[in-house]
Amino acid sequence: MAQVPGIRLNDGHTIPQLGFGVWQVPDDEVVTAVGTALAAGYRSIDTAAIYGNERGAGIAIAESGLPREQLYVTTKLWNHDQGHDSALRAFDASLERLGLEYVDLYLIHWPVPARDAYVDTWRAFEKIRADGRARSIGVSNFHVPHLRRLLAETDVVPAVNQIELHPNLPQAELRAFHTEHGIATEAWSPLAQGELLGDATLAAVAEKHGRSPAQVLLRWHVQLGNVVIPKSVTPARIQANIDVFDFELSAEDVAVLAALENGKRVGPDPDIFNP
Ligand SMILES: NC(=O)c1ccc[n+]([C@@H]2O[C@H](COP(=O)([O-])OP(=O)(O)OC[C@H]3O[C@@H](n4cnc5c(N)ncnc54)[C@H](OP(=O)(O)O)[C@@H]3O)[C@@H](O)[C@H]2O)c1
Repeated sequence: MAQVPGIRLNDGHTIPQLGFGVWQVPDDEVVTAVGTALAAGYRSIDTAAIYGNERGAGIAIAESGLPREQLYVTTKLWNHDQGHDSALRAFDASLERLGLEYVDLYLIHWPVPARDAYVDTWRAFEKIRADGRARSIGVSNFHVPHLRRLLAETDVVPAVNQIELHPNLPQAELRAFHTEHGIATEAWSPLAQGELLGDATLAAVAEKHGRSPAQVLLRWHVQLGNVVIPKSVTPARIQANIDVFDFELSAEDVAVLAALENGKRVGPDPDIFNP
């Protein structure tokens, strides 16, 4: 079984470098998908209130029989629950759906700058962390100005910023800012939701290593130092996606993949996303 290394966070906790994303997996199907992932060796699950599958993820975790301390569970606060008191209430509801006493990581899902509520929300997150009900707190989809504001106006530096990141969108500016401030970079849609997998440049690197294009992409993330959370409901892919710790991309491979940068997103722009 693959041994997934850990990344140490700025609060002293450790997050597995590779986890299992469950966006777009319905609540009844997520029990099987998470169960398959846990059996394959994944120990980190990335869900969110808006995914509507916290309950199923919690069932799979309970049914696995794995000790809670061996698991790493992330969930996220949805945008309409931003604000101090509403965030506290939404966190309680997430914990109840998951059937857990604490989560390992709680994230503000999007900054939604138009709402201007992420600073108050973060103060609630600081309280949740102080109470020990989230071991670590972080953000998602924050750009540098949003992070700068949190750093200036609140006490706790986010442990993680979970952002869209793949070779089309390598996010050099944000990664440099994270490094400077001790924030871990977590990559969502690490496979660009499958869009990159047919690329000829990627296929050539994959063939050279006798690996699949998805494995090369995930290895690219690992070597960049990202935390990465691929999603799949296909058992063979779930297994293959974690088997990326026994080969290495050369500097030349990495340079070849750098040519895929084109700024293309698969998701919305965080500066304007306000659903
Ligand atoms: N914070 C945020 O705003 C945010 C936004 C988006 C996503 N996320 C998180 O990031 C996770 C991953 O992102 P994502 O789900 O958008 O996309 P992704 O992981 O980049 O790609 C998932 C897609 O790739 C396919 N796939 C997976 N492994 C494959 C393989 N080995 N070979 C070929 N195809 C493969 C999956 O198909 P099958 O499932 O059919 O196998 C699925 O269609 C999400 O599940 C979620 O937890 C967070």
